[in-house]
Amino acid sequence: MNAPREPVPVALLGATGSVGQRFVRLLEGHPWFRPTSLGASPRSAGKRYGDAVRWSLDGAPPADVASMTLRRADEAFTEPLVLSALDADVAGPIEAACAAAGALVVTNARNHRMDAGVPLVVPEVNPDHLALLDGAARRIVANPNCATIGLVLALAPLHRAFGVRRVIVTSMQALSGAGLVGGEGLRLDDTLVPFIGGEEDKLVNEPRKILGAREGEAILPASIEVSPTCVRVPVSDGHTLSVSVELARPAGADDVRAAWDDFRAPEEVRGLPSAPARPLVVLDDADAPQPAAHRDLGAGMTASVGRLRPCGVLDWKFVTLSHNTVRGAAGGALLAAELAVARGLLRGAVDAG
Ligand SMILES: NC(=O)c1ccc[n+]([C@@H]2O[C@H](COP(=O)([O-])OP(=O)(O)OC[C@H]3O[C@@H](n4cnc5c(N)ncnc54)[C@H](OP(=O)(O)O)[C@@H]3O)[C@@H](O)[C@H]2O)c1
Repeated sequence: MNAPREPVPVALLGATGSVGQRFVRLLEGHPWFRPTSLGASPRSAGKRYGDAVRWSLDGAPPADVASMTLRRADEAFTEPLVLSALDADVAGPIEAACAAAGALVVTNARNHRMDAGVPLVVPEVNPDHLALLDGAARRIVANPNCATIGLVLALAPLHRAFGVRRVIVTSMQALSGAGLVGGEGLRLDDTLVPFIGGEEDKLVNEPRKILGAREGEAILPASIEVSPTCVRVPVSDGHTLSVSVELARPAGADDVRAAWDDFRAPEEVRGLPSAPARPLVVLDDADAPQPAAHRDLGAGMTASVGRLRPCGVLDWKFVTLSHNTVRGAAGGALLAAELAVARGLLRGAVDAG
């Protein structure tokens, strides 16, 4: 593993939001990265982080971050690494400008995910896609959608072993996935919402790119058809997915189970600071996985899968769960950033001011 000699200065954009707060928490004591600039909207710029943020995690923000003054996210930043948790309405051009100035940008926003030159990375699944950045003038690494990540962690071992052809998935997505809408957060009382704008297209397209094969500087999308329905449910954190799959080659329950049990991160990912011991665990309880009980496995970085049973329409069906703001956002992005840094993708040309 190629750890940086000194902590890498990081500009954290969107630091006040749901994902930004997770980043702040996960960067506390991080062995490689140190937040040195925080960016948010013009509404927050000029304020102390501790005064501007509506802190929604346990405890209080770390004192050193709380005392930092927020800057406008569209200012020029000199840090060699930019972590973005910006609202997608503004993320695209801001991230492109940071990358054009020489920074390595790792983003949670959707804007650049499907760009041809942008690797869409789940480090345990497709670390080879980072090679798209070799020699690239602009370096953006995208973290997939928070529901996509859980789906891909469960599908990747099956796709490798048997090929996945078709998927029917219904997501039950947590409230924190909606962000801190207007600073108040979304609340659902005795109801759910069977619509999340723009989400279903991501579940169709992103797994095809992530599970696709790299051919030189291009990704050949996997030919997997996904039929998603996305539902917002009254759960604080953790996206649960009900999944049916059709496989290209026949597999029994023991084969499916063994593919999941054997799934491990590649060597270069295993030693990274944010890598969990296991990216995916199989739970045997008949009523598992459940968000409150299982979202924090592996400090929120381990996805869980259970309820494997035959599907009367496709081949197999199961339930999978992952923490949407940790594995599905800030934690997953940190792991991707660590992998990119370990691969030497930071540019020395940027003056870390
Ligand atoms: N929540 C999840 O589970 C999740 C998972 C994966 C990916 N994502 C993606 O990650 C990004 C952040 O999501 P979130 O849930 O954290 O959203 P959020 O809670 O609404 O936070 C949005 C952030 O963007 C900033 N912002 C808003 N308008 C801005 C503007 N005009 N200029 C500069 N900054 C602006 C906000 O700053 P102020 O506080 O100053 O308004 C805040 O820091 C989104 O692109 C989202 O799609 C979210």
